[in-house]
Amino acid sequence: MDPAVAARVRSFSDLGTASRALAQRVVGLARGALSTRGRCGIGLSGGSTPEALFGLFSTELRSSVEWERLDYFWADERAVPPSDPRSNFGLAQREWLGSLTLPDSQVHRIRGEAETPEEAAAEYEAALRGYRAEGRGAEAPLFDILLLGIGRDGHTASLFPGSPTLSDSSSWALVERHPALEPFVPRISLGLAALNRSRFVGFLVAGAEKREALLRVLRTSTDAELPPCGLVHGLESTEWFVDREALGPDDLGPATPSAPSHR
Ligand code: 6PG
Repeated sequence: MDPAVAARVRSFSDLGTASRALAQRVVGLARGALSTRGRCGIGLSGGSTPEALFGLFSTELRSSVEWERLDYFWADERAVPPSDPRSNFGLAQREWLGSLTLPDSQVHRIRGEAETPEEAAAEYEAALRGYRAEGRGAEAPLFDILLLGIGRDGHTASLFPGSPTLSDSSSWALVERHPALEPFVPRISLGLAALNRSRFVGFLVAGAEKREALLRVLRTSTDAELPPCGLVHGLESTEWFVDREALGPDDLGPATPSAPSHR
């Protein structure tokens, strides 16, 4: 494995420990963004993996950052209302954001309950472009922090292997009507053009079912063979926080020259 890649993969004994390490990393990044740029945009992943991570932000780390100063976005959303247990916004709200006093203007929710997912995607695209335009140059990053998970097939956000969404190089928000994995509801997702506009990308991955996809990312040398999660890179850093079931210390063994160092 390429040493540069291995250097940014940290394997922990369990999901809780990995979550705690990523939470601490986020605290440092958020404080740095607020102090140097006076603002911090954070993109949140969905699924079940980040539940404990979000819980840390609302409990142990509640006073570590002025969380009420951040702008909150989502990597993707299911076409369901916030009250639906499948809602990614609903998870973040229950585990974290509900404990904060946040003006609506700082919570950039994807409206899963919209008449059509296309309508929700168009609204979200406008919100993203509006946010980037406020006091930021045309080439400025969109997010300071982007937190992502991966599926067992290597998808991230709602960009699935083989989907036409992967060849959309311009949309910041797009619709996936045929997700390859449950829940089988239409999704609204950041496109690669937006996923690759964050200063920091942190992946949180746990469970043996993710191991094959993770190894493909860390050991594949050409983008054409990479799963979608391998196509997302932070402008400044891409870091993986994984549990031992997904990737053990032995997997981070001797460097192999094949993987390009940019990952
Ligand atoms: C979603 C997520 C998705 C998630 C992975 C992992 O809406 O499903 O954004 O990309 O991160 O599917 O999901 P789990 O954490 O539930 O394994």
